[in-house]
Amino acid sequence: MATETRPLDAQLPVEGERRRDFLYVATASVAAVGAGAVVWPLINQMNPSADVLALASIDLDLSAVQPGQAVKVSWRGKPVFARHLTPEEIASANKVDVASLRDPQSLADRTKPGNAQWLITLGVCTHLGCVPLGAGEGEVRGDFGGYFCPCHGSHYDTAARVRKGPAPKNLEVPAYVFKTPTSVTIG
Ligand code: FES
Repeated sequence: MATETRPLDAQLPVEGERRRDFLYVATASVAAVGAGAVVWPLINQMNPSADVLALASIDLDLSAVQPGQAVKVSWRGKPVFARHLTPEEIASANKVDVASLRDPQSLADRTKPGNAQWLITLGVCTHLGCVPLGAGEGEVRGDFGGYFCPCHGSHYDTAARVRKGPAPKNLEVPAYVFKTPTSVTIG
């Protein structure tokens, strides 16, 4: 009984096919990269330009925010806290020795002249970016009466300055202007 033996060269197409597969895949990858390179400028052209993004701003009406209350809004995809400080909270912030702070800033440095009662900051912890508690009704405000980040325990005071925990910086104050005594434009 003759044993069917596949000639050596009959096996070559298998290798050849694999090689072609590889070449095909390799070519496809390059083609995909090439297509990506073409598509990217088109997509990029559809994005808002940097100067348009820089102009993106929101108006915020503060007239209903009572002393001791805060509101949370979203600006450029980030939470912003606008807080109406009480006279006690202002006094508490002002009695701190600024030089002793990790990120030394006075309340005046962080608010607008004549408007120390309005503290407007990003609601983004400067440690790893969690949203601190303290702006919402009934939320804990940490050991210093401002904000508390539950992710790793950073405490911010009533000027939203870091006082304890791993956060390296105070909550960031965004660019904003008062349009009227109780309305601001952020951005
Ligand atoms: S992200 Fe806030 S303490 Fe780590």
